[in-house]
Amino acid sequence: MLSEKSARTVRATLPVVGAAIGEITGSFYDRLFAAHPELLRDLFNRGNQADGSQRQALAGSIAAFATALVEHPDRRPDAMLARIAHKHASLGIAPEQYRVVHTHLFAAIVEVLGEAVTPEVAAAWDEVYWLMANALIAVEARLYEESGTRGERRPYTVAARTAETDDVTTFLLRPADGGPVPAHRPGQYVSVQVELPDGARQIRQYSLSGQPDGGLRITVKRVAGDPAGEVSTHLHRHVGEGDTLLVGAPFGDVQLADGDRPLLLASAGIGCTPIIGMLTHLAGTGATRRVIAVHGDRRESAHAFRDDFARLVDELPGGEAHVWYERPEGEWPADRTGVVDLAGLDVPADAVAYLCGPLPFMRAVRAGLLAAGVPAADIHYEVFGPDLWLGRD
Ligand SMILES: Cc1cc2nc3c(=O)[nH]c(=O)nc-3n(C[C@H](O)[C@H](O)[C@H](O)COP(=O)(O)OP(=O)(O)OC[C@H]3O[C@@H](n4cnc5c(N)ncnc54)[C@H](O)[C@@H]3O)c2cc1C
Ligand code: HEM
Repeated sequence: MLSEKSARTVRATLPVVGAAIGEITGSFYDRLFAAHPELLRDLFNRGNQADGSQRQALAGSIAAFATALVEHPDRRPDAMLARIAHKHASLGIAPEQYRVVHTHLFAAIVEVLGEAVTPEVAAAWDEVYWLMANALIAVEARLYEESGTRGERRPYTVAARTAETDDVTTFLLRPADGGPVPAHRPGQYVSVQVELPDGARQIRQYSLSGQPDGGLRITVKRVAGDPAGEVSTHLHRHVGEGDTLLVGAPFGDVQLADGDRPLLLASAGIGCTPIIGMLTHLAGTGATRRVIAVHGDRRESAHAFRDDFARLVDELPGGEAHVWYERPEGEWPADRTGVVDLAGLDVPADAVAYLCGPLPFMRAVRAGLLAAGVPAADIHYEVFGPDLWLGRD
């Protein structure tokens, strides 16, 4: 909890800090990467840095945390902390690195806000930073203990490579030393690190798209465009059967909950991967609960796991599949042409929902679920990038 004195100062300076936080984080990252170029090369996603999305995520989370502290001093925004801590754990962030971030963040605050940063203001924001940092360090310590790792990546062999569509490929990975596969829950992801032609060792997360015996399965969409996605293109072009990949233990706060409550699983595009992982688990464990599986895609041939989706839902006694295509190639019902629309579906208010796909898709599905009476707390979502929704609820 924030001290009374600091709470007053933080409340009074939140508007100023909030308004300048974009500038502060810009200066922070410039300073951080000037002092530690290896962090940009081998830890941070340099694509996110280039397009600014990660900068917004960090800034947004600190502002959201400070706001939560002053508005609800008795509560901790645990969901937000868990989301960040899982991401950090999958990257192997260590407690001592919080000092490095602190040094450059506070230098940036002084640079941007100048004389407004009186000793009192600096002390109050210092308290906010360390409350958040220590809360994250504690959750990360627990996650490391549970996983039996420090988030480091170890060698896996690509046991098989399968094309799902023109631009989506599945990699079946087995520990190179023949050791056991770490435990994981449906919905979680792993970090994959690859060495790129310029020597950078970039890391990306990939959701587990199934639970094969003795292995992990990931499914990667090649990100086209200018510039093309670095890691996904590398995996598609250069990684095949018999090759070695560095892979971390599974983490991720979005995990399929056991129980009998009805499930609504909704995905769009490559967001199908964690949902296919969940369906595989449900079918494999003989789940009898109601499962409403919803998917949206551009067209049939772009729909990765199209047959698996139909088969898995069919294996579930309580399963029902609803698929929308924006531009179907073949005969396709008119009321399922376009984007996913929950309006015509019977979604029970006690459903637990898991969503994964582009943000506009998830916003629309979430609105549909809220309209059906599903409480916001029962709507879980995974974002394939920095979570700009953090602290929204
Ligand atoms: C929890 C989680 C789970 C995920 N699960 C999956 C999954 O199951 N399957 C999957 O395919 N993906 C998944 N992702 C996404 C994945 O981690 C990568 O983000 C994705 O593969 C793209 O990485 P990349 O290196 O190919 O692209 P990047 O190189 O990171 O590029 C991403 C975008 O940034 C743009 N960009 C890059 N550099 C610049 C620059 N210098 N200037 C301007 N723009 C630039 C690129 O054009 C591209 O559009 C997941 C992400 C998360 C966070
Ligand atoms: C209190 C301090 C910190 C806060 C508030 C914070 C916040 C965040 C947030 C909000 C995200 C995005 C989460 C998401 O993807 O959904 C993130 C990701 C990340 N954080 Fe932190 N973080 C902190 C400390 C650190 C430290 C000490 C390091 C290590 C030097 C670090 C490295 C990263 C990296 C590498 C990512 C992934 C982003 C990317 O590669 O683009 N963070 N952090």
